[in-house]
Amino acid sequence: MVTATAPGKIILFGEHAVVYGRPAIASPLSQIRATAKIEAAQTPGVRLLAPDLDIEKSLETTLADGDAFGAAVQQVQAATGITELPPMTITVSSQIPIAGGLGSGAAITAAVIRALATFLGFADLAAPAWVSELTYEVEKIYHGTPSGIDNTVVAYEKPVYFVRQQPQNRIETFAVKRPLHLLVGDTGISSSTKLSVGDVRRQWQAAPSIFEALFDECGQIAEAARAAIENGDLALIGDLMNQNHLVLDKMTVSSPELDQLVEAAQQAGALGAKLSGGGRGGNMIALVTADTETAVRQVLLAAGAKHVLCSVIK
Ligand code: PMV
Repeated sequence: MVTATAPGKIILFGEHAVVYGRPAIASPLSQIRATAKIEAAQTPGVRLLAPDLDIEKSLETTLADGDAFGAAVQQVQAATGITELPPMTITVSSQIPIAGGLGSGAAITAAVIRALATFLGFADLAAPAWVSELTYEVEKIYHGTPSGIDNTVVAYEKPVYFVRQQPQNRIETFAVKRPLHLLVGDTGISSSTKLSVGDVRRQWQAAPSIFEALFDECGQIAEAARAAIENGDLALIGDLMNQNHLVLDKMTVSSPELDQLVEAAQQAGALGAKLSGGGRGGNMIALVTADTETAVRQVLLAAGAKHVLCSVIK
């Protein structure tokens, strides 16, 4: 039996603008993970099980249904040259809420890719860059125009500074001078990243100069944030998160529920707060300190957060 996992992720700065080549910063959310388990089977064929979603299908059916599972398996087959798969059962489970802006799709795909490569005897191939690249191919099928930041963070499982560019994305790790204590508050509202990204694209096409200026602003905020993280300037990082939220709101990707959680966190003493990921629902993040963490967590729950996780970036 082979098991592989991949973490969720949060975007600290620069979501949406990252699709248009501006820098962004993201970090893994290692305490919530997607897991893929593969066992050799007695009966021929490949079966895919996702008990949490009540899914049990043959590979042929997932391919006919256009599921990401099938696409992930095909990517591994293409990359390894294995045309005939041995009989197996692939079981997928995930603690990452679906459509919550925490990268659940990329994490499930990355876990399946890593597990299958290992099961087929290609564990040495399944390094982060390879897993990231194959996951990106699957993301492209399901998410329209993904920037590549989700697959990068879940495959490398490190905080990254990311710029989408040709011929190769810029992927850099950076020093975190003072740990960042983040609370991740879930609105409980699921929201499709594909729809919010598509909507931003339509608005950008209709008003390119306005949206280019908003993307530039996000890019400048992400640059300043990287320097502030490297310098350990927590107050500035918080301030930049607040600014980033306002720009995302102008891009119409916030929502009343996200705004409510962001404002509640700010009023309870968070150094800064913003939505994280595709927006219109999903999750927000708040930068706290040991002194403010309990109060901010309480107000987030009182303001409607369904769960609050803590993530420390060091
Ligand atoms: O909602 P998520 O977790 O898939 O994050 C999406 C991040 C975006 O910048 C909105 C899209 C992208 O591909 O980078």
